[in-house]
Amino acid sequence: MVPQIKTFEEYKEQYELSVNDPEAFWGNIAENFEWKKKWNSVLEWNFSAPDIKWFNGGKLNITENCLDRHQAARKNQTAIIWEPNDANDAARHITYGELFLYVQQFANVLLAQDVKKGDRVCIYLPMIPEAAVAMLACARIGAIHSVVFAGFSAQSLADRINDASCKLLITADSMMRGEKKIDLKKIADDAMLTTPGINKCIVFNHKSSPVQMKPERDLWLHELLSKVNSTHTAEVMESEDPLFILYTSGSTGKPKGVLHTTAGYMVYSAYTFKNVFQYKDQDVFCCTADVGWVTGHTYIVYGPLLNGAVTLMFEGIPTYPDPGRFWNIIEKHKVNIFYTAPTAIRSLQLYGLQPVKGKDLSSLKVLGSVGEPINEEAWQWYHKNIGNGNCPIVDTWWQTETGGILISPLAHITPLKPAFATLPLPGIQPVLVDQKGNEITGNGVEGNLCIKFPWPGIARSLYGNHERFRTTYFSTYQNKYFTGDGCKRDEDGYYRITGRVDDVINVSGHRIGTGEVEDAIDEHNCVIESAVVAYPHEVKGQALYAFVICDRDIHNKEAVYLQIKNHVAKVIGPFARPDKIQIVKALPKTRSGKIMRRILRKIAEGDITNLGDISTLLDPAVVDAIVAGAAGLNEKNS
Ligand code: WT7
Repeated sequence: MVPQIKTFEEYKEQYELSVNDPEAFWGNIAENFEWKKKWNSVLEWNFSAPDIKWFNGGKLNITENCLDRHQAARKNQTAIIWEPNDANDAARHITYGELFLYVQQFANVLLAQDVKKGDRVCIYLPMIPEAAVAMLACARIGAIHSVVFAGFSAQSLADRINDASCKLLITADSMMRGEKKIDLKKIADDAMLTTPGINKCIVFNHKSSPVQMKPERDLWLHELLSKVNSTHTAEVMESEDPLFILYTSGSTGKPKGVLHTTAGYMVYSAYTFKNVFQYKDQDVFCCTADVGWVTGHTYIVYGPLLNGAVTLMFEGIPTYPDPGRFWNIIEKHKVNIFYTAPTAIRSLQLYGLQPVKGKDLSSLKVLGSVGEPINEEAWQWYHKNIGNGNCPIVDTWWQTETGGILISPLAHITPLKPAFATLPLPGIQPVLVDQKGNEITGNGVEGNLCIKFPWPGIARSLYGNHERFRTTYFSTYQNKYFTGDGCKRDEDGYYRITGRVDDVINVSGHRIGTGEVEDAIDEHNCVIESAVVAYPHEVKGQALYAFVICDRDIHNKEAVYLQIKNHVAKVIGPFARPDKIQIVKALPKTRSGKIMRRILRKIAEGDITNLGDISTLLDPAVVDAIVAGAAGLNEKNS
């Protein structure tokens, strides 16, 4: 089993060791897994190519580490607790024995559909155990899974399928999010109109909704499962064989297929899960993220299962059937560790304490936060009212690209400071740099956050575009991984993430590229050009404000605003709908044609007293017109 740090002193010692001798440190942790063949070298790397190899020469299968090796001790122990959207439906408890069987059968189903090692499989499923089973089945046969969040539109799904040239799609008939029904198979059908590479679509019957099954292409999972063997010997994978692709947004261009590989991701997800949350045998761990995001990959599926943990998967939303749902789940399943996002906490805070009252939350030992900076008010509310003042909050900072948590307290070990991610985990060497790329040393400083040494969970590439991987993360600052985040290091050396410094916007913990939203808006028939910026939002953290130039005079602005919002929801997904839209005659541009987003951001924030230097603009008068228009914008704007 993966070693667990017990004291702050030990953390400091381990941290020192991890910096002074990273290979000894990580080699020692990797010894705790099942290998078919041991590695030749712990680490080979350079950040200029970049070329990063952990445990090179090793052979293994991650699912043997998640499943086979737990059979002796945990066959009858629950692996996954599933809490359905509808609180009146029965929860499911799946043991390590049952999960092992299901994954082997599913692996055989994939093989029977001619999926081979290295093939890409797209998974578009609700938050149900089958999502985890499908991921593990892919990993078992060496296929690369690409999970697409079930809130994405048909077009976004198709783009992701095509970018990774997936040959098979796994989906379900339909799903419920709160009271809303989502016809997943219909969306998948629309997507498959433009995905020539997809040969087969496996459909899980989740809600018995009527669906169109296209002969030859569409197959019911239960029918396929009834025809296969229930044993499967795991494919032997190289340490650096790809495990999964997960799409995320950047400041420009199309979403990026972040590529993670087998051994390093395994070691890192298991180590961080056990240490950050201080997971103890039999604890019930509940992470409310969706498996469509990296948090779900690492801390619902792989991290917990690698540790033989009990992981709770929740299908629904925090406010259905009422805003006490999270607290009911904690009470019902005696959750010990609860990991959620600041946006969820802020939205529940608005309902006051009534939904929390009378709920027995005494099982809780540790609370977690992820996805965006947590403001101090939300931190205090969560700590006091949910944690009863005695559960530490681990504010975990990380990214899709980092594979696992990089900066976070260790629960019950690291002294906390509200709204601080606190200290780097062992193996993580953060540095702050100024605009010129110079390292800012000492404490009480602020800069752009980079990491100067690799850790096992770091992404290895962007699928099909290694050059974009290099330019996005390794070219801004030489020999450093650039995170895109701004960060403060206080007098005690504690880290506080201040938010993105690029054009990525974090709306309710969803990472959205301004470029993607602009492209979607520009598709509207009367739009010539647009610019999207963020403004602070009480619940969502940040919200989207779009400035739009139209090719004609618009009389019914409200109607156009609504059309544009709906169009963005259709192209990307409902979570990317702009909150506010303003039609403008022109955008503030420099003489070289670059949009000055700094000015638009100020206007969106309502901070127009000091717009800074606008003398470099081609036409400074544009700014006055936009400011005047913003003032007249209807509060609700829809
Ligand atoms: C971006 C990464 C990490 C999994 C979920 C999001 C922001 C994430 C924190 C935190 C402040 C945070 C950063 C980061 N972020 N966690 N604890 N405090 N900011 O993964 O979608 O790849 O987004 O989320 O800005 O760069 P992601």
